[in-house]
Amino acid sequence: MAASKPVEPQSGSSLPRWQLALLIGTPIVLGVGAVYLWNRSKTKDSPGKRNGERTTPEGSASPVQGQDGGDSLDGWLGWSRGTSPLDRAQGAKNKGNKYFKAGKYEQAIQCYTEAIGLCPRDNQTDLSTFYQNRAAAYEQQMMWTEVVQDCTQAVEMNPRYIKALFRRAKALERLDNKKECLEDVTAVCILEAFQNQQSMLLADKVLKLLGKEKAKDKYKNRDPLMPSPQFIKSYFSSFTDDIISQPLQKGEKKDEDKDNEGEAAEVTESSGYLKAKQYMEEENYDKIISECTKEVESGGRYTAEALLLRATFYLLIGNATGAQPDLDRVINMEDANIKLRANALIKRGSMYMQQQQPMMSTQDFNMAAEIDTRNADVYHHRGQLKILLDQVEEAVGDFDECILLRPDSALAQAQKCFALYRQAYTGNSQSQVQTAMDGFEDVIRRFPKCAEGYALYAQALTDQQQFGKADQMYNKCIDLEPDNATTYVHKGLLQLQWKQDLDLGLDLISKAIEIDNKCDFAYETMGTIEVQRGNLDKAIDMFNKAINLAKSEMEMAHLYSLCDAAYAQTEVARKYGLKPPTL
Ligand SMILES: *[C@@H]1O[C@H](CO)[C@@H](O)[C@H](O)[C@H]1NC(C)=O
Ligand SMILES: *[C@@H]1O[C@H](CO)[C@@H](O)[C@H](O)[C@H]1NC(C)=O
Ligand SMILES: *[C@@H]1O[C@H](CO)[C@@H](O)[C@H](O)[C@H]1NC(C)=O
Repeated sequence: MAASKPVEPQSGSSLPRWQLALLIGTPIVLGVGAVYLWNRSKTKDSPGKRNGERTTPEGSASPVQGQDGGDSLDGWLGWSRGTSPLDRAQGAKNKGNKYFKAGKYEQAIQCYTEAIGLCPRDNQTDLSTFYQNRAAAYEQQMMWTEVVQDCTQAVEMNPRYIKALFRRAKALERLDNKKECLEDVTAVCILEAFQNQQSMLLADKVLKLLGKEKAKDKYKNRDPLMPSPQFIKSYFSSFTDDIISQPLQKGEKKDEDKDNEGEAAEVTESSGYLKAKQYMEEENYDKIISECTKEVESGGRYTAEALLLRATFYLLIGNATGAQPDLDRVINMEDANIKLRANALIKRGSMYMQQQQPMMSTQDFNMAAEIDTRNADVYHHRGQLKILLDQVEEAVGDFDECILLRPDSALAQAQKCFALYRQAYTGNSQSQVQTAMDGFEDVIRRFPKCAEGYALYAQALTDQQQFGKADQMYNKCIDLEPDNATTYVHKGLLQLQWKQDLDLGLDLISKAIEIDNKCDFAYETMGTIEVQRGNLDKAIDMFNKAINLAKSEMEMAHLYSLCDAAYAQTEVARKYGLKPPTL
């Protein structure tokens, strides 16, 4: 449903949201700023920028200075250099460093081993350096198990040894031990106050891999879950140019009756599709799939409609495997109503997008536009897809096309403004930002009843730090749609950014859960805030609730990443007593 659900352009749309959960320590606003900077610089600097620093063994910096001083002192006292075991160990290490720099890793390892053997157990800092250096040499030899062992020695003697922790993290990644890798890299991120790209990138990578892995497993085995009626209604209202989303017309029902006049009344009764439509109006959603199946199995006259409706509900309950064959069938029915086929293509395209297959997705949307050139839904949904793909210009084109076909589409106009805003913002053009903001004003003036218009405007306003006005816009949304839990979450997040008022923020998010206890976005946000407050157990609980409600495997993977990030922090706190400052 990625493209069927209005895009959520919370400040997180372009940055990994897990970082909010990791980036504790700084108030959320600052956190977002830091992440944003990080994201920007990421594209410019190569991630290996600090690499050199880390692949060299611990060497000539402080130990050498200390040694020089020691030498002259030794001279004064008449001791020859090298009599002290520590000095001899240092000497072996320095020799090792020379070999290391010359790329002679085996000899380097021998020297470091010698240093380790010579070093008195009391001189823990030195000893940990020797282990760390040997680990660096093992790393060059790709001897990952040895790297882990030596780093573990180093960390045991010096728990805040960033180099050793990071080196171990990298080796653990090679050994496919993601859980422990994540713990190490989390410790490194905290020790570096989230300022180093390289460790942030590794954390991001491992969290994503872990999330993907867990979601794949969990998603397969989960029970289907019907979303809330508000969600379902909002989903259907994003399609206006199809047949199945519209309520049965009075006339249509009458026609049915007329058709069946003379025949037994049960003919109408037996039309699973018409029954399903009736259940839809009664918000009795659980029965729709089975009624559609009846229609399909009896080969009734509404077979195509029933297939599409059934597929739609499979998608809503998150069963893409169930939906796909139905959508395929409708799309291939050459003689079916073109609106049905176009709608099936939009839905299959959105499904592909959710499965991270943008090429297949684009193909379906383009085919929909080909077979039904004047279908506003196609352009509207393709525009949303283009925003997700960061093809903002094309998105604007599609929204324009949609507006041309359906000038009263407030949603398309609001989304066009948002696309223009994104374009102006990324292009760094203040005048274009202003134009986009004026566009929003125009939309809410012309369509004062379109909640989405206020909501998108509020997000742009928040982004522009016009918090007071953003808050007013959310209030308008709430007036218009008091049942929409998402708005309360956004308003809650706004309070955090604006006033750093955690309690007010949490109150609003609790309210969201009260309104809709299936609002995964609310649980996710609450979890994120609890991480920031250092309530990791509560955070993990919230993330798990959100995981059970996730509407797609991709969303679930993201939530697992958040959960794992929080869990890794509890482990780091337990093992090393490392805690980032909390709010
Ligand atoms: C090494 O350990 C000995 C014995 O504890 C201590 O006297 C000495 O100061 C230590 N040297 C360094 C450089 O830490
Ligand atoms: C709730 O409002 C948001 C905008 O804040 C909108 O994107 C979403 O579609 C609405 N959801 C429901 C279920 O009405
Ligand atoms: C999805 O729907 C199909 C068809 O009804 C069913 O066989 C399958 O078990 C469902 N999968 C899940 C995960 O619910």
